[in-house]
Amino acid sequence: MILDVVTLPDEFLRQKSLPVEDVNDEIRTLIENMYETMYETDGVGLAAVQIGKLLRLFVVDDQNGHKMAFINPQIISTSSETCEIEEGCLSIPSIYEAIVRPKNVTVQALNEKGKPFTVEADGFFARIIQHEYDHLDGVLYIDRGDEDLKNKIVLNFEKKAARKAEKEKIKAAKQARIAAKIAAKQAKKG
Ligand code: NI
Repeated sequence: MILDVVTLPDEFLRQKSLPVEDVNDEIRTLIENMYETMYETDGVGLAAVQIGKLLRLFVVDDQNGHKMAFINPQIISTSSETCEIEEGCLSIPSIYEAIVRPKNVTVQALNEKGKPFTVEADGFFARIIQHEYDHLDGVLYIDRGDEDLKNKIVLNFEKKAARKAEKEKIKAAKQARIAAKIAAKQAKKG
């Protein structure tokens, strides 16, 4: 099932996610749906908060052999060496920005069976993990980039949302007028 992705300027994205208490069938179904949603939207990672669930859980597919779900992940170490990679986010559509982060990370998490595992990741895989991990704490990649650019991006999404709300208001008012006309006509007939 393809799920709706929460996008800017929705403040829900800023909430902190809570640990998954039990890795059960409900969680496994959620993970399946998250993969489906991620592939549908050409993403390489998706956190539960992005589909409206405040759970410490994300899925990753770096399209290079690392397709994994991370439940209750902990980043246990990061390299002092950093690198710059262009990031995007399904919650911030059509925007990309080069961001500096540690090159390598070591992460502990539970898999879909509730079993603990540790993974040492580098390159693009490490990058996706760090990006998704941030989502669990309400952090977006634009928070780690240029402050002015971030403010501009957020403002643009706010404006877009305001325009959309205005359009919907006008449409609803038009529909109400049409409905009133029809009702008046029928009243005359009667
Ligand atoms: Ni994202």
